[in-house]
Amino acid sequence: MPDSPQVPATGIGPLALVEYPHPALLRPAKPLVRIDEAVCDAVSQMFDIMYEAEGIGLAANQVALPYRLFIVNTTGRRGDGQELVFINPVLSRPRGTAIQEEGCLSLPGLRMDVRRPEKIVVEAWSLDGQPIRLDLGGLLSRVVQHEFDHLEGKLFTDRLPEAAAIEARRTLETFREVFLGQQSRGELPAHDDIVARLDRLQVDRCQA
Ligand code: NI
Repeated sequence: MPDSPQVPATGIGPLALVEYPHPALLRPAKPLVRIDEAVCDAVSQMFDIMYEAEGIGLAANQVALPYRLFIVNTTGRRGDGQELVFINPVLSRPRGTAIQEEGCLSLPGLRMDVRRPEKIVVEAWSLDGQPIRLDLGGLLSRVVQHEFDHLEGKLFTDRLPEAAAIEARRTLETFREVFLGQQSRGELPAHDDIVARLDRLQVDRCQA
């Protein structure tokens, strides 16, 4: 992990799940170069949010943080299974093909079959700065690939074959209408304010 810049960063504050088409979900996240207390607190909040929503993985974009970081616990239960934190992950060595139904906490209610490589290697950093290298198959491989897509600003709906993509598009349109409605009623910040916050968080903890 590169040295942290010496300028103090601003805090992150309380986090909440965001849904499509929140701008954080649609822009690629940036590598973290500063792992400070605020990031550790954010990760802790992310586990709370993931368990509460009954998810098994959660990417930073899904709580409106523009960082290359995601968490996984394939059991979806606190105190059960293994809590994994992947910072600045890189995927390699895709092998095989598997089709499996996926859902996403940022697209609640939508579940569709998604084709992905069956196995991959993930390299990343843990929260305490230790290098991670795992050769994955099965559910953990699936979740890691799904969460990695989030960091690229992609959703599982970007990986559907044509017919399924057309079906999904209608649902996405409904999500968009709901989101714009919430913005117009002031229940969500305006687009420019969301983007300004993402830019500031990025300046604080990512490489220029
Ligand atoms: Ni997701």
